[in-house]
Amino acid sequence: MHPEFQRALAAIVGGANVLTDERDTAGHFVDWRKQYRGVADCVVRPASTDEVAAVVKLCGREGVAIVPQGGNTGLSGGATPTGARREIVLSLGRMNRIREVDPLDDSLVAEAGCILTNVQQAAESAGRYFPVSLAAEGSCQIGGILSTNAGGVNVLRYGNTRDQVLGVEVVLADGSVWNGLRSLRKDNTGYDLKHLFIGAEGTLGIITAAVLKLRARPSASATAWIALETPAQAVELLARLRGQLGECVSAFELVSRRCLEAVLAHARDAQDPIATPHPWYVLVELEDNGTFESLQSRLEVALSDCIERGEVRDAAIAASHLQAAALWRIRESIPEAQFANVKHDVSVAVSRVPLLIERVEAALAKSFPGVRSYVFGHVGDGNLHYNIGEQALVARRPEVNRIVYDAVAGLGGSISAEHGLGQLKRDEITRHKQPLELDLMRSLKRALDPDGLMNPGKVL
Ligand code: FAD
Ligand code: MLT
Ligand code: ZN
Repeated sequence: MHPEFQRALAAIVGGANVLTDERDTAGHFVDWRKQYRGVADCVVRPASTDEVAAVVKLCGREGVAIVPQGGNTGLSGGATPTGARREIVLSLGRMNRIREVDPLDDSLVAEAGCILTNVQQAAESAGRYFPVSLAAEGSCQIGGILSTNAGGVNVLRYGNTRDQVLGVEVVLADGSVWNGLRSLRKDNTGYDLKHLFIGAEGTLGIITAAVLKLRARPSASATAWIALETPAQAVELLARLRGQLGECVSAFELVSRRCLEAVLAHARDAQDPIATPHPWYVLVELEDNGTFESLQSRLEVALSDCIERGEVRDAAIAASHLQAAALWRIRESIPEAQFANVKHDVSVAVSRVPLLIERVEAALAKSFPGVRSYVFGHVGDGNLHYNIGEQALVARRPEVNRIVYDAVAGLGGSISAEHGLGQLKRDEITRHKQPLELDLMRSLKRALDPDGLMNPGKVL
């Protein structure tokens, strides 16, 4: 790095917050799955919006690109430098203040570097609820979840991250600050600009803070691990439970036997919740007001009806919060338990999930006989994580991708449901977006980032 550039950065954020030593930068230059690595000049750690703006202006003058980074838990290589040009990693972790919690407006203002669990806890301390929840919540940050429009396990009831945002503050590519920190529930004054930055993966600007919606905190939850014969039974069960129990079905997660076995092999304390093996499972959660006992008994009644009709093979209903947490630990351990493989995050209409699995399995059996797939995910949102093979298959990723993406396209689905495009799917979108959509996206990028300094090599 040019010494003068380093001095100028240090003058903005302090010398201790310009990291150049390999021991300090290494973790910032590789993604969570260790699939992407790239070297940047340094890691810069600003503590305020003004510091972010000053760093962006300086980088603009020097022609240095900026890779925003939150908790670095992204699964598409979006927060990793590409090494293709001079870049800095802008790590937002020091911007971790919750600026305000307002129970009357049901809103909370959080800086980009706030860790998701801290935001959930701040909402809870105010007697409210922030519903975004995912296994990386102890590390991922508000700027990261907004920039990837993260999903997680509660989308079924509350929507994805985009649905939780009332306003944003953004540093634009020229260093100007857009203060869009409004907490209005209704605002139809033309284009809703915040939605451009949500899900943009840092390619249009740097989110420095957000106004988040809070919800009423349900007083009870009930959780069950349910064994099924087929994915089609999962989709039918969801419709039946929603018909019977309504909006209180907050999570509905599919887990294949192979995923469960991977978790049992990986996590010593994990136990199979049902004594005999079954090909598929769903983890269901209900949230509502009232008591734990009454919600649990509603779930019990609904499930015993299904067992009697032969729609469900077996079910284990958590008798305590401790048991519920153990069931969730199984689900949340899946990403770590089957670490290296060809990973997919795709979505189709919920009703088409069984067909997607059928088509992909048939095509895999033809092209890669004997290959193992690990299928799990947010079936209530039509979102599957379709992970295929072991590390050795990664070398053949393009062929495996073709099978999954062709099946998804054939069913009118999306090749990225909740993880974003990053570097992983950047080239792929040209096959999946209409030319007009791509033109509009490129025009937007040129208008907001004419010099291409905002997270280059990602998304477009
Ligand atoms: P990072 O990984 O640091 O960055 C992600 C992207 O956002 C990058 O493109 C980065 O440049 C950009 N970015 C980060 N901060 C900013 C900012 N302030 N301004 C502009 N751009 C920014 N995802 C789901 O959707 N659902 C899940 O259920 C889920 N489960 C997961 C479970 C595990 C175990 C792991 C490791 C990951 C999981 N993820 C899941 C993926 C990941 O946690 C999410 O994508 C999360 O939103 C990333 O947040 P982060 O702070 O780590 O962002
Ligand atoms: C999940 O649902 O567990 C995540 O999206 C992580 C993953 O796909 O591995
Ligand atoms: Zn997921």
